Amino acid sequence: MHSTSDILDIRQVEKSKIDQVDFDNLAFGKNYADHMMVCDYKDGAWQKPKILPYGPMEFEPSAKVFHYGQAVFEGMKAFKDENNKVWLFRPEENFNRINISSKRMAIPEFPKDYFFAALETLLKLDEKWVHPGDGNSLYIRPFVIASENGVSASPSNEYKFMIICCPAKAYYNSPVKVLVADHYSRSADGGVGFAKAAGNYGAQFYPTNLANEKGYQQIIWTDSNSHKYLEEAGTMNLFFRINDKLITAPTSDRILDGVTRKSIIDLARHQGVEVEVRKITVEELVSAAVDGSLKEIFGTGTAATIAFIEGFEYADKYHDLPQIENPYSLRFKKGLQDIQYNRAEDPFGWRYEV
Ligand code: COI
Repeated sequence: MHSTSDILDIRQVEKSKIDQVDFDNLAFGKNYADHMMVCDYKDGAWQKPKILPYGPMEFEPSAKVFHYGQAVFEGMKAFKDENNKVWLFRPEENFNRINISSKRMAIPEFPKDYFFAALETLLKLDEKWVHPGDGNSLYIRPFVIASENGVSASPSNEYKFMIICCPAKAYYNSPVKVLVADHYSRSADGGVGFAKAAGNYGAQFYPTNLANEKGYQQIIWTDSNSHKYLEEAGTMNLFFRINDKLITAPTSDRILDGVTRKSIIDLARHQGVEVEVRKITVEELVSAAVDGSLKEIFGTGTAATIAFIEGFEYADKYHDLPQIENPYSLRFKKGLQDIQYNRAEDPFGWRYEV
């Protein structure tokens, strides 16, 4: 491994924009921290990464990303504790996953020392953008795009790996209502559902708009073959609590291997809750809702953390979830955030000091 200063070129902003930001009224993804990282891939190698002032970039209209969607991304968060120390949460997982996604999209893998040097430098330069306090974080968006010019349908020979950061609060501010998909699909066997490929998200917008028109914020995707099995929601993995047991679908080539998902499985088991990682059918969900054994559904994701689901619609029938005391969703959200904000022991070794 090299030291940070060997690997990065740094050009700092002349004046920070932080005074223009109202941290109490943040819209997700609207304000960006002062600096960004840009690293070019050309001539068969990743070049020296650059830390630059965040700002517009120039591309030719023929850049391949605009035509074939060869693009992947990650979502991570940095948290500030009561002593103003900054922490990342399981960043190795995001590093590994962006390279898994890249491989599936024929994008060259990114070096680990560049990734961590860039993250640490950005977080030191933009440390003030990590706002303290429960629910506050700096959302970190690493992404890779195909930047070679030319509309031939073949993998690009040039890429840009970038990291941008935005201060964030909760992604969903209130409980979410969801619609169970029985027509559209998010992913297919042998496809790219497990990757954080940009197109996985863009392809959900139209069916999600239709769901929004019916009053639902998200769709629960079902398997594309039979629409019988519950998979994940648009930006989240899903957990179903039937009586006291927690059930979540196994990851596959259709389902994202969510970092929050696997953390909640470990946290729940650590707290003595039985977790089943198995396929769950729409039929099982509906009958548990009808007989009252369905106690909770919640979604997990980096942006969302844990989002409470208040009800779902399937086959034109809406099922309201009961109001229960001391729900798992709140308990695990607190357990997770206590580790993220350095308020509790971290028996899993998930916190990463910046
Ligand atoms: C994340 O949780 O980081 C996501 O990928 C959600 C994002 C699409 C807003």
